[in-house]
Amino acid sequence: MHKDIADILVSEQDIATICKDLGAQITNDYAGTRPVLVGLLKGCVPFMSDLAKHIDLYVDIDYMSVSSYHGGISSSGDVKIKKDLDMPISGRDILIVEDIVDTANTIVTIMKLFEHRGAKSVKICTLLDKPGGRQHHFIPDYIGKTIPKAFVVGYGLDYDELYRNLPYVGILKPEIYRTS
Ligand code: PRP
Repeated sequence: MHKDIADILVSEQDIATICKDLGAQITNDYAGTRPVLVGLLKGCVPFMSDLAKHIDLYVDIDYMSVSSYHGGISSSGDVKIKKDLDMPISGRDILIVEDIVDTANTIVTIMKLFEHRGAKSVKICTLLDKPGGRQHHFIPDYIGKTIPKAFVVGYGLDYDELYRNLPYVGILKPEIYRTS
């Protein structure tokens, strides 16, 4: 699996430092509250797991599964809910935990949904921010690392469902997606 990676963009050590730093910021910013950490499956799983360990607060953790319809190489902007939250969020402080914000279609749609459901506040924590891919003006509240417009996999991010279990984030060799 590792041989398919051209370059490591965010190493295991970088990820550990990011989780520690963001966890400390979130602990400080949400002091005295009981936020709901919402992960968007499946990409969020490793980041949610590592980040949550550095948040020293009473939190609820819930997950949603949503998918964008991808027509060709770019997202159409439509987002479908495959699995909804288990808990009501009216009056709650929500922190959405994402692996990546690219076009921002997913996050903008989910934020609107949560506001419609009466959330008290909705903020976003993303491991990776790819501002070069944006279709909406959107700046995440917490960003682990800003990355260039490259095809990245690992630490939750997939290509054709593979590579989610890489312990780092890397750039996939172009010949891998050209040949499959
Ligand atoms: C990925 C990622 C984000 C979204 C970001 O999820 O986890 O949720 O795309 O892209 P956007 O900013 O362009 O909307 P994906 O739909 O690929 O599902 P996955 O997490 O199961 O891989």
